[in-house]
Amino acid sequence: MRIIILSVSENIYSTMRLIEESKEHGHQVQVINHTRCSVLIGQGKPKIIYEGKDIIDDADVIIPRIGSSVFRHGAAIVKEFEMNGVFSTAHSLGITRSQNKVRTLQIMNRKNVPIPKTVFSINPDNIEEQIELLGGAPVIIKLQEGTHGLGVILADSKKSAKSIIDTFINMDTSIMLQEFVKESNGEDIRAIVAGGNVIASMKRIGAEGDFRSNIHRGGTGESVTLTNKEKRTVLRAARFLGLPVCGVDLIRSKRGSLLVEVNSTPGFQGIEAYTKINVAQKIIKFIEKNRYVSKRL
Ligand SMILES: Nc1ncnc2c1ncn2[C@@H]1O[C@H](COP(=O)(O)OP(=O)(O)O)[C@@H](O)[C@H]1O
Ligand SMILES: [Mg+2]
Repeated sequence: MRIIILSVSENIYSTMRLIEESKEHGHQVQVINHTRCSVLIGQGKPKIIYEGKDIIDDADVIIPRIGSSVFRHGAAIVKEFEMNGVFSTAHSLGITRSQNKVRTLQIMNRKNVPIPKTVFSINPDNIEEQIELLGGAPVIIKLQEGTHGLGVILADSKKSAKSIIDTFINMDTSIMLQEFVKESNGEDIRAIVAGGNVIASMKRIGAEGDFRSNIHRGGTGESVTLTNKEKRTVLRAARFLGLPVCGVDLIRSKRGSLLVEVNSTPGFQGIEAYTKINVAQKIIKFIEKNRYVSKRL
């Protein structure tokens, strides 16, 4: 099989692991920096030019590893490969949907996937009312397109929530408000999905005193077993977004586990270390089994 990994560097842990496991399984593998690709359309068959060469026919499978700062261009490159009949572990539409937390939660809510109570608005004149819709402070204020725990703020009082929200709205920064799920206790669950299976899951525990459990913010992890209900939530989320391979984050609340976000390019370093599961190998195995049935995913 000819595999193209769309990634800005061969030296990123997850990219390295995918290269390693692809080779181990006897596949040809190439890393293409999607930020260095030019696409030509409007002249018959599209071309994806990389280092002076058209690569559109060079892959049987692509594994997009698209960073959030370049997701629009990345998703457009993935779209070209998809339209050329290439199997992708993340659909272009799924990458776009999951990039924005409001869009993700709108789709989840429509499909009855449990999520925290969330409000979005760009009206600076009724901030108090927005906070009241969530039952008052404390309240979480989140950038719609933040990652790694940056852009997630806990406002303890209505007064501080108001001034933070006011600032963001006036800066034209897209935010959302969310009920603070106190009982999640600075912990969340990260599950990795590959084609209808949860292949690894860990609990992340935030650094002392931090309500955010992100490993990038000093959190640590440990292996965790999901309940059947959690598994179902995770798999439905992946399916509804269009992400055969993804990372799904849940927080455990009094009314059950709630989905907070989905990541189309989950990192493997933490989860492989904490769970001792060979995530990269499981993804390559999933591709081997499923690349001819992409339409059904
Ligand atoms: N509504 C919430 N209540 C309590 N904790 C939350 C809530 N939303 C997020 N968190 C905590 O903050 C972390 C980061 O939030 P998340 O929405 O996943 O943003 P990011 O994309 O930056 O990871 C979560 O993993 C969780 O630990
Ligand atoms: Mg997260």
